[in-house]
Amino acid sequence: MSLAIIDHTQGSRPYSVSKARYVEAALLCPEWNQVFCTSWLLAGLEQDVRRNGDFFVFSIGPEQILVTRSADNQLHAFYNVCQHRGLRLVTEACGNSRYFRCGYHAWTYANDGTLKAAPHREQFTQGLDLAGRGLKAVHVDTWDGMVFVHLGENPAPLHEYLGGLVPMLSAYKFHEMEVTEEQTCHLNCNWKAVIDNFGELYHVDFLHPQHRSMVDCCNDEVHLFHNGHTGVHVPGGTVNPRFPIPDKPTPILAAQLTEVGLNPADFQGRVLEIRTAIASRKRALGNETSVDYSDFTDAQLTDAWQYNLFPNIVLSFGDDYLWIMRARPHPTDPGKTEFDKLTLVRRPVKEREKLLPRPTRDTFEYDAVIQGEKTMNITIDQDVELLKNVQSGMISAGFDSVWLSEEEARVKHFHAEWDFRMGGPI
Ligand code: FES
Ligand SMILES: [Fe+2]
Repeated sequence: MSLAIIDHTQGSRPYSVSKARYVEAALLCPEWNQVFCTSWLLAGLEQDVRRNGDFFVFSIGPEQILVTRSADNQLHAFYNVCQHRGLRLVTEACGNSRYFRCGYHAWTYANDGTLKAAPHREQFTQGLDLAGRGLKAVHVDTWDGMVFVHLGENPAPLHEYLGGLVPMLSAYKFHEMEVTEEQTCHLNCNWKAVIDNFGELYHVDFLHPQHRSMVDCCNDEVHLFHNGHTGVHVPGGTVNPRFPIPDKPTPILAAQLTEVGLNPADFQGRVLEIRTAIASRKRALGNETSVDYSDFTDAQLTDAWQYNLFPNIVLSFGDDYLWIMRARPHPTDPGKTEFDKLTLVRRPVKEREKLLPRPTRDTFEYDAVIQGEKTMNITIDQDVELLKNVQSGMISAGFDSVWLSEEEARVKHFHAEWDFRMGGPI
């Protein structure tokens, strides 16, 4: 059994971080300026701004960003604020429009951000230059179907920011996947506690006992990238060798075998051969159903992969699905987070001619998850239930600092980057 840590940065990793960064309201403003405004932020999906006129609004911390596709097919991003007296310009979450008219005094902007009309223009005796009073743009770029924005000045290109993880994930072709569910859960904890939670497998044996019957959390491979990004691959189609190896496939492995047309009974006494069998069967099936698996490694066909994009994105994926999880900080309360989960799937090529209906976002309180009224998937529900008690513990006088192991190397790496952006440990 071994944990492999591949550090592409050779950076140092803090073994302890202060509680202040999770609980101090005074740190929200510097964190916003020095962490969020110096990072590419995942705003949404290219498929939601596919047609000319499509737009959506991305809210994060104190800001709202309006992402549009203009008539000349260009993608744009602007602060969602009218340049007259500062009203929020667009109030819908998404839609399709050539123009945006402010609800206050009817200043009207085209979807490329230019100000087109302002009533009673002659009353601006100092002059009103429409060309000089358009929406304030921010940087926008895309990677594999995802739209990112950058609120700072002169950022490095997105692909440079993402760096070494781009070629590692190119086989997945996330842009081919379609949204089947969008959820937002209000969590009563700091956004970094959410990212920490999705940065280690140390807790899995204890919080997610169901995982021992489908993945091998002992032989994971961790990657640490420049700019604070991290990744982990956990062997799937197998069991956790920390526990006795069963004679016959566990129910979940049996279901995975059946799904690809293999007979679970054939794997009596051969449970550790299932992973390889599923990989080769998927390759054969891919050919039959026109899903192109030729660029995938065997590990990409069977394993659970999870990549965290600094600062606040968790991508969990397999060969045919992607969960985009995003922790959005609250503007004024360090103990609140909007936790988004977008679920995407890849369908066989011949089924993609007719697009799946785009689900609307379902927003709820974490209590709805705990009461069993909503689910974000059993594993995430278990995490959500736990996270509600992290913040109240952290603010206690009985807690001074986080103390980290090498099994939490990704958490350490995240905080090393946070420290760097903040100008040193806080
Ligand atoms: S604030 Fe928008 S038109 Fe006046
Ligand atoms: Fe978890």
